[in-house]
Amino acid sequence: MSDPSESAPISSTLPPATPLRPRRRAIVVGASSGTGAALARRLADEGCLVALLGRRKELLQVLCQEINQKHAETRAVCYGHDVCDYDVVPDLLARIISDLGGLDIFIYMAGVNYPPGLEHLNFENDRRMMEVNALGAMAWFTPVAELFKSMGGGHMIGISSVAGDRGRVGNPGYNTTKAALSTYLEALRNRLTRHGVHVLTVKPGFIKTDMLKAAQGGTPFAIEPERAADDIYKALLKHRQSIYTPGLWRWIMLIIRHIPSVIFRRMSF
Ligand SMILES: NC(=O)c1ccc[n+]([C@@H]2O[C@H](COP(=O)([O-])OP(=O)(O)OC[C@H]3O[C@@H](n4cnc5c(N)ncnc54)[C@H](OP(=O)(O)O)[C@@H]3O)[C@@H](O)[C@H]2O)c1
Repeated sequence: MSDPSESAPISSTLPPATPLRPRRRAIVVGASSGTGAALARRLADEGCLVALLGRRKELLQVLCQEINQKHAETRAVCYGHDVCDYDVVPDLLARIISDLGGLDIFIYMAGVNYPPGLEHLNFENDRRMMEVNALGAMAWFTPVAELFKSMGGGHMIGISSVAGDRGRVGNPGYNTTKAALSTYLEALRNRLTRHGVHVLTVKPGFIKTDMLKAAQGGTPFAIEPERAADDIYKALLKHRQSIYTPGLWRWIMLIIRHIPSVIFRRMSF
């Protein structure tokens, strides 16, 4: 269960933004490990104040300490949160915005992957993936979208996957959650661009994180999480709408998306 009262950010310890030293404020949901942790470090290195969310509070606290010691000032604060606690999101968001003194960048990184293998399907695992990867994202993007629309600006970033581009034999549930997230993000972009809000969809190939250990088969072109974080940060600066990381996957998926179904269904890929 999320318990915002257990988290310990104190807004007065955060360095103030000034006209000469503007500070962008970011939330990373799913920052305790892997790509989220790498992106949190990168945002802090670039001068952002970052709020880090996830269930593993000990990992978040260690990451906060590491970031704040590196910069000799408070640039990171953390909050224990399970994204399946949908009802607490509006109040938690309000509290974080109050702690940070505003919000400029929102990143939904949280995700789980439970491949069922080729012999069986597993509804419990599929439901869990849907709850974290898709519904948790919608629970957060909804109030953030309303906020940014009223502000007339802001960056919203969702971490989808190449897995959402095509239904494959190995992991139908995960494919579905990422396809849902990609479509949801596209729809948000189409609603919000006219209000000055930037929405970025990120589709990683393989990233060397704990999640990759669950992957079945080969993991070609796997990259370090720092490389993915670099691609995401650059896409944020350039206001890109959708990226693959590494970029090579844009061309790989272009081909895969165009393989006729009659051939694709015979492949074990
Ligand atoms: N690794 C890859 O090859 C790959 C490829 C394509 C896309 N992606 C996507 O990239 C994103 C980051 O994954 P990663 O590779 O960096 O793996 P990771 O190290 O396992 O990170 C997953 C993150 O999601 C958080 N999370 C999971 N369930 C949560 C919950 N119920 N509530 C709150 N946070 C939750 C985890 O935090 P806690 O456990 O502390 O809650 C963790 O911070 C995911 O969306 C994943 O689907 C990864």
